[in-house]
Amino acid sequence: EQLKQEMNAATGSDSDAAEQFRIKYLGTKGIIKGLMGEMKNIPNDQKKNFGQVMNDLKQLAEEKWESLKGAAADAGASAGVDFDWTLPGAPVNVGGRHPISIVRNQIVSIFKRLGFAVAEGPEIEDDWHNFTALNMPENHTARDMQDTFYILQNPDWVLRTHTSSVQARVMEKQKPPIRIICPGRVYRNETISARAHCFFHQVEGLYIDEHVSFADLKQTLYFFVQEMFGKDVKIRFRPSYFPFTEPSAEMDISCTVCGGKGCSLCKHTGWVEILGCGMVHPKMLDNFGIDSSKYTGFAFGMGMERICQLKYRVNDLRLYSQNDVRFLDQFTGGV
Ligand code: PHE
Repeated sequence: EQLKQEMNAATGSDSDAAEQFRIKYLGTKGIIKGLMGEMKNIPNDQKKNFGQVMNDLKQLAEEKWESLKGAAADAGASAGVDFDWTLPGAPVNVGGRHPISIVRNQIVSIFKRLGFAVAEGPEIEDDWHNFTALNMPENHTARDMQDTFYILQNPDWVLRTHTSSVQARVMEKQKPPIRIICPGRVYRNETISARAHCFFHQVEGLYIDEHVSFADLKQTLYFFVQEMFGKDVKIRFRPSYFPFTEPSAEMDISCTVCGGKGCSLCKHTGWVEILGCGMVHPKMLDNFGIDSSKYTGFAFGMGMERICQLKYRVNDLRLYSQNDVRFLDQFTGGV
């Protein structure tokens, strides 16, 4: 009897109150279930009577629950009528560009101003365009410089190890003057760490015309880094080796963090390496039917992640492909 009164007294007009009621009386750990469990302790002759009382209680509880739910629904409906449609909406997060895309777009726009066009090519490449045409015949040690992912062997199909393969495709089809940059993803079979990944992004450039000299190469790259990192940046060249250029060089810039004074990023040398470059090897021009006695050219290649690291001080390569929103959110306003 007491329970009946208590249940009847239960009020409330929201769905929360109805749910609370259900849990208290009708839930698997609720009062009614609990009392049902007492059945086994009731003397046999009273079992029938007890059962009757319990059924009544259960029915009452269910009716009450239905009515509480009804009240909640009514309240919800009238609240809907009163809804203020002029309230501002919930904020929607705006996405931003990936730092690699920001840097790529900046690089492309700088070289476009110098008259370079963007060229693209396939990421799955045949041996000829990735190696042989670039003066890296089979068994050439230079192939070991790049740990290659093979898709097929004999004939070899690979994931391109550099975007020089795009330059090969352009030289195949176009006659000088050629002035292109090739941004794109490249793959190398390296153990993933903060400083190496199995893929990264490159931008390579190629300029072939009459009378193209090393001075042109130097001035073009100097203009590029000044636009990218500011007018105060200094450059220096160190001799190097690439099978497709002769002479070859690596270019350093004065450290963007300490301005050349020495810090941990530049390992206290004041300089950081940013790209490889050189004068196009005459044999390459001949490979593509370009008269090497008439034309000369320069080429260069850089990693976008590196440029990005120097610009934004990202110290772990893995961050670029983990898609952690806390990382990506920091790059806003890029075009
Ligand atoms: N292809 C070279 C690499 O991936 C970079 C490069 C391009 C060097 C053009 C010189 C000239 O390492």
